[in-house]
Amino acid sequence: MNRTLEVIAGSDLVERPRRSRWPARLDYLQSASGLVLALFMWAHMGFVSSILFGKNALWVVARTFEGYYFFGHRYPVIVSIAAAVVLALVIGHAALAVRKFPINYRQFRTFRGHMAMMRHGDTSLWFAQVVTGFALFFLASVHLYIIMSNPGKIGPYESSFRVWDQHLWPLYLLLLLAVEFHGGIGLYRLSVKWNWFGGSNPDEARHGLKVLKWAITVFFLAIGLATLATFIKIGITAHPIYGERYVPTWQQDALPGHGGQAAPVAGQPATTSQAGGAQ
Ligand code: HEM
Repeated sequence: MNRTLEVIAGSDLVERPRRSRWPARLDYLQSASGLVLALFMWAHMGFVSSILFGKNALWVVARTFEGYYFFGHRYPVIVSIAAAVVLALVIGHAALAVRKFPINYRQFRTFRGHMAMMRHGDTSLWFAQVVTGFALFFLASVHLYIIMSNPGKIGPYESSFRVWDQHLWPLYLLLLLAVEFHGGIGLYRLSVKWNWFGGSNPDEARHGLKVLKWAITVFFLAIGLATLATFIKIGITAHPIYGERYVPTWQQDALPGHGGQAAPVAGQPATTSQAGGAQ
């Protein structure tokens, strides 16, 4: 047999079905990364919504993540590292998920046909998962890049100026909707897939999970919208002092003229340039 014939004869072998554990492993990794991201988003909402308890509360949360209460100095690079880790997780999770996306119009039509024929809630939820996941590729990357490159500028004024004066609120609104629907559906599908709360009556359990899923989505959407509205309100009120940093009430004696220093950043000269303004 000459070389050409050998290649032609061998081409079938490439298509030969082989047993592989990889599809299962990738599925497992996709579920695990999705779970970690969903739990992270719950924690994230807890931290960001601290603004609902007042400006001082968010200031304390932001400084805690910069290590201020552990090292006595602010290390904003910690926030950049955290954001980079989350970005890596998002990219990994998206790369695993994209395997299942319809890759051309024909596949898309076939899927839509099946969805219309079956009219099963879980199939429609899968499609919503694909659409919101696709939106998150873009929305989450922009947000994470901004946080990574501005780690020292997180705080009641700093964040509100970003949301309002730097026009990020439309992005955050879309991001909030996409992430809450995507995360809620994702957790529901995970519980069904891995049979976490199956019990003796799977139909009943599935119904209960769906109710819980909606309750969680509505709960986080309500907190998220209230948080965003608060950032917008502070952004509008503090607009005249755009660019200034927030100083918590107990550090305001350290402002210029009072001699002192507020929350020093490691490696930078001590500054007293921050102002209280527009409380
Ligand atoms: C998948 C990843 C992420 C998503 C989907 C996401 C989503 C969001 C959303 C929707 C908001 C708007 C607030 C609201 O409406 O309640 C927000 C704000 C915020 N997020 Fe994230 N976030 C992610 C990761 C991170 C990470 C890793 C950090 C920090 C290490 C972070 C820090 C912040 C901060 C500080 C704000 C307040 C606004 C600002 O300062 O720009 N986020 N995020």
